[in-house]
Amino acid sequence: MNVAILSMGRKNYSTMRLVEEANMRGHNVRVINYAKCFVTLEQNNPIVHYRGEVLTDIDAIIPRISARLTNYGAAIVRQFEMQNVFTTTSSIAIVRSRDKLRSMQLLSKSGVGIPMTVFARETADYEGVLEQVGGAPVIIKVAKGTHGKGVVLAETRKAALAVMQAFNVENVNFLVQEYVAESNGSDIRAFIVNGKVVASMLRRAKDEDFRSNLHQGGVGEVVKLTDVERRTAQKAAKAMGLSIAGVDMLRTASGPQVLEVNCSPGFGIEKITGRNVAASIIEYTEHSAKTGRRKDKIGA
Ligand SMILES: Nc1ncnc2c1ncn2[C@@H]1O[C@H](COP(=O)(O)OP(=O)(O)O)[C@@H](O)[C@H]1O
Ligand SMILES: [Mg+2]
Repeated sequence: MNVAILSMGRKNYSTMRLVEEANMRGHNVRVINYAKCFVTLEQNNPIVHYRGEVLTDIDAIIPRISARLTNYGAAIVRQFEMQNVFTTTSSIAIVRSRDKLRSMQLLSKSGVGIPMTVFARETADYEGVLEQVGGAPVIIKVAKGTHGKGVVLAETRKAALAVMQAFNVENVNFLVQEYVAESNGSDIRAFIVNGKVVASMLRRAKDEDFRSNLHQGGVGEVVKLTDVERRTAQKAAKAMGLSIAGVDMLRTASGPQVLEVNCSPGFGIEKITGRNVAASIIEYTEHSAKTGRRKDKIGA
C-alpha cells in the first residue's frame, strides 16, 4: 500500500512510530507536511500539490492534524476524500472534535456520562450560568483549546465571573463545567482504534495543578478499565464519528464522565503501557483501505 501520513513533524514520536510500523508491514510510506500542500479545484478534478509534485497513487492517508491548523488540515484531508482516498479520520470528524461546544452536544446526546456543562455568551446571565453548574469552584474552557491550555479552574464566584468576562471581551467561545473534585487531578485516557480500546492509562497532574495532560507535566501509569469505562470510551468515539480516538474521562464513584474525544491522540501512551498503538493503526488502515470508507452519519 502507498500510505501518506499527514504531519507537520517528521521527528514527532507519533509520526515516527507510524512510519516505522508501516515500513515493518511492507508498505510504502511517506510523511506529507500538509501545511506545505496546496490544492487546486476545477470541475471534477481535486488535486493536491506538494513540493512541486502532484500527489497521486495514494491508497490511504493517516491525518495527524495539529490543533493550530485544524481548518487547513481538514481541507487537505477533504481533498483526498474527494479523490476517494481512504482516510483513517474523516475531515468532518476532525473539525467536529476540535470544537468543544459541538463535541459536548454530541456526547450528551449519545448518552455517555459528562460533567454538567453550560455554554454562553455575554448576553447570558452569568450568575445563572454558575448556578446551573453548582456554583464555584467551576471549570471554564475555551472551545478550541488543547493540551490543557485554555482550561481554567475558577475557585471563587468572583474569579469565575472575571474569566467569563475576559473570554468574552476577546470574543472567545467557552464552556463552563462543573468541577469534578473527586477526580483529584487525575483522568483516564483510553486509546481507541477501530472502535476498540487498544491502550489505556491513568494520568495524574503535576504538583498542585488540576490538569492531568502530559503536556502540562502530568504523568501516566497503566490502568485497567472497568467494563463501563471501556464501553463509555467506545461509545464516545463512535458518537464523534472517530475510528481512532483518545477519549479522556474522569473516574467517579457514579461512573465515568467524558471530557473530550481527541482525533489525533499522542502515542506517549505506548511508552507507558507497552502497547503497540501504531501497529494497530496500520493494521486498521490496511483492512479499511480495502473495504472502503464508511459514510459519516452523525449529522452534526
Ligand atoms: N470538569 C472537570 N473537572 C475536573 N477536572 C477537569 C475538568 N475538565 C477538565 N479537567 C482537567 O483538565 C484537563 C484538560 O481538560 P480537557 O477538557 O481534556 O481539555 P484539553 O483539550 O485542553 O486537554 C483534563 O485532562 C482534566 O485533568
Ligand atoms: Mg484533554
